[in-house]
Amino acid sequence: MSVSTVAVDQAVCCDISGPLPVLGRDVTVPLVTGGEVTYAALDYAASAPALQRVWDDVAAYAPYYGSVHRGAGYLSQLSTDLFENARRTVTEFLDCRADDQLIFTRSTTDSLNLLAAALPDGCQVFVFETEHHASLLPWRDAQVTYLDAPRTPRQAVATLEEALAARTASGQEGQGPALVCVTGASNVTGELWPVRELAAVAHAHGARIVLDAAQLAPHHPVSVQDLDVDWVAFSGHKLYAPFGSGVLAGRADWLRAADPYLAGGGASRKVARRTDGGVDVEWHDTAARHEAGSPNVIGAYSIAAACNALTEAGFDTLVAREQHLIDTVRAGLAEVPEVRVLSLFGDDAPRVGVISFVVEGWNSSHFAAALSAEYGIGVRDGLFCAHPLVRTLLGSDPQTQGECGAPEAAPGEKSLNAIRVSFGAGTPDEHVERFVGAVKELVRDGARWQYRTEDGRCVPAV
Ligand SMILES: Cc1ncc(COP(=O)(O)O)c(C=O)c1O
Repeated sequence: MSVSTVAVDQAVCCDISGPLPVLGRDVTVPLVTGGEVTYAALDYAASAPALQRVWDDVAAYAPYYGSVHRGAGYLSQLSTDLFENARRTVTEFLDCRADDQLIFTRSTTDSLNLLAAALPDGCQVFVFETEHHASLLPWRDAQVTYLDAPRTPRQAVATLEEALAARTASGQEGQGPALVCVTGASNVTGELWPVRELAAVAHAHGARIVLDAAQLAPHHPVSVQDLDVDWVAFSGHKLYAPFGSGVLAGRADWLRAADPYLAGGGASRKVARRTDGGVDVEWHDTAARHEAGSPNVIGAYSIAAACNALTEAGFDTLVAREQHLIDTVRAGLAEVPEVRVLSLFGDDAPRVGVISFVVEGWNSSHFAAALSAEYGIGVRDGLFCAHPLVRTLLGSDPQTQGECGAPEAAPGEKSLNAIRVSFGAGTPDEHVERFVGAVKELVRDGARWQYRTEDGRCVPAV
């Protein structure tokens, strides 16, 4: 694999009618059939490549790197300032309320687990079964109501309305608060959820709502105030800032009242031995309460750099460009009768650049392996950490496993896994065009190489 050094190119940098420059845009990968091609990274929904701008900002800061909130030296002061400025930048990017808190976490999963640990006693959680596991699973200690998969946005709103009305009618409302957790854009279908309407329903019933914006924030502007959500969570690595940070932002009251997510330095204001031998701790009631330990300043700084870069590029332009890529892929797939695109809300639903599909007669792992090995295209196959949703969409039995090589889904049978292609601000037209061409060729001519199963994955036989 050869990796070309990429210099910042002002001409490319500011031509926002094309893709935003990302790291790895010139990386070439070998093909099993011979030769090399530029790698087509079409797995943005898992992790997006770093924006060149983010990388450059981080590189410019790196020599000045120092400890945060715990050093008297110049570079410690500078790093502390940059960390707190990053907090302000991201707060602005999310259009938070003046009294909201913004906590830097490791990821969306971490953010939602933090919120789950901060739920008041007796809190009841409502979550659609269609959610990513990061939204579905953190509420283990709460009473959780799992809502059935809706088949239209309107049905989603009606389902939530019904569940919250039933809670009121049964008198459970008096027993504690309620929280609704909802995704902004599905990591399986890419479809946008009616977040504003769901927030209105939640609030009408005295419940709060947290938005999982892991797949929304990289593609669309997210305004906490406009959507009227109580919290929002997202990950840096899906927002072109792959340095191990995420964000939870929103209402301060539950966060202030909760025990610190991690106990340790940074979260505590004062610690003293008691006469009885124990220890008294006074915890911060700012964001620091949940940021114990040395914070990931590079991670926070890189998220802020990505927010600045996306804002400067302009979401109107980014959304329009991405829509063109979505249209290209969907139109291409629609020309292949063997392909079935997975959807909850139907063809006309607004969506981001995340598209999952199955190919009749093909094992999805086999298909994804052939896209990689024969075309240099990186997609994902499987159930995408949203097992209930993908199985609902496939109508398949969770107990069975497909073997690579032998098509798991013969004509008329159900697929057990799906293939997901996803893209965004750094994707050139050529990548999606190559993808569409490859799908057509594979379906028409079959794979040109032999594949075998290794550790449950399909890989080229040689
Ligand atoms: C909708 C959604 N929520 C949450 C997550 C979890 O993100 P992370 O792995 O960064 O915690 C993902 C990751 O794919 C996602 O797509």
